[in-house]
Amino acid sequence: MPRPLRQPLIAGNWKMNKTVSQAQAFVNHLREAVAGVNNVEIVVCPPFTALFSASQALKGSNIFLGAQNMYYYEKGAFTGEISPLMLQEAGCRYVILGHSERRAYFGEEDTLINLKVKAALRTGLTPIICIGEQLAEREAGKTKEVIQKQLAGSLAGLDSELYSKVVIAYEPVWAIGTGQNATAFEAQEVSNFIRGLLANNAGPSWAEKIRLLYGGSVKPANMAVFIKQPDIDGALVGGASLEAADFALIIKTVQEVISK
Ligand code: 13P
Repeated sequence: MPRPLRQPLIAGNWKMNKTVSQAQAFVNHLREAVAGVNNVEIVVCPPFTALFSASQALKGSNIFLGAQNMYYYEKGAFTGEISPLMLQEAGCRYVILGHSERRAYFGEEDTLINLKVKAALRTGLTPIICIGEQLAEREAGKTKEVIQKQLAGSLAGLDSELYSKVVIAYEPVWAIGTGQNATAFEAQEVSNFIRGLLANNAGPSWAEKIRLLYGGSVKPANMAVFIKQPDIDGALVGGASLEAADFALIIKTVQEVISK
């Protein structure tokens, strides 16, 4: 079961949830609950307003900080936007890019996501790039076509050695927030397809280093089956990352499975 090249990663995407004080309380609880975990990388992604105080509260812990979005310029006249540099200084190591909610509600497309991916990498942030098909696309047998297009678009023009620095999250849109997770078989099938595409683009040795996450109704009860899949290296968790106890249970489930 151990994957020598790829440390499992569990990231919590809080979406538009938690005020500064709520984030603080969560982080204090979580850091205690996962204090002994050393073989799983743990990331929490609060809203922008809570990033800095969360980073202060996470100091000295085994939990990293991520943001949920950013713009691709370092600074300038872009009212309402946040730059990679700002995230980095606020304590972020990760940034989620191209989440399906950004694509659906804010019109984000692959070209923009690609610019953001490159800006994140230039700044030393690790992008967690989200891709995934909608229900109608799956039912029409277009899953692989959609995945291929989103992956190629968001990684366009990237040097091979930068590939190993990105994380890809496969999040079928129909599984997000619905309680209807993909089966482990479905998630593994697409993850394996993604790794194959990465190998074609960057070469097999780089592709082997890239961590692939599954996202969509991940809960403590279903985490084990996902992490047992050979091409799934962790999860991007929405709803179940909002309760520290549930999120800690997901992390500990992964720890247990990979320690066997
Ligand atoms: P849920 O875990 O709530 O389905 O959300 C998944 C997600 O969108 C994580 O980015």
